Amino acid sequence: MSGQPLCRLDDLDDPGSAGFVLRRGGQQVPLLVVRVGGRVNGYVNSCPHIGAPLDWTSGQFLSRDKSHILCAVHGALFRLHDGLCVGGPCAGKALIGYPLVLKDGVVLAAE
Ligand code: FES
Repeated sequence: MSGQPLCRLDDLDDPGSAGFVLRRGGQQVPLLVVRVGGRVNGYVNSCPHIGAPLDWTSGQFLSRDKSHILCAVHGALFRLHDGLCVGGPCAGKALIGYPLVLKDGVVLAAE
């Protein structure tokens, strides 16, 4: 499977996160990538509460203890592995997933 290279897995803390902007069909898609061990998950950087970007500082998406993705606007918490909101004003809703591929240590956004 091919894709657009985003970063190397080793560029991300474990657990850790980073933000990217993809260009798809003339549009920009803001993404966040979360690493836990040898796994990565991608999500559209848009909170299901009001659609705001989640990061409080560019590329910083995780709670202080790094156990959840944290929305900086109103504090919603999302599970790392599937983006489900488990606390905050959008509890029960989920981030929109974005497919990633890990190939030879490189994180790719699926085409
Ligand atoms: S915009 Fe994310 S919790 Fe309100």
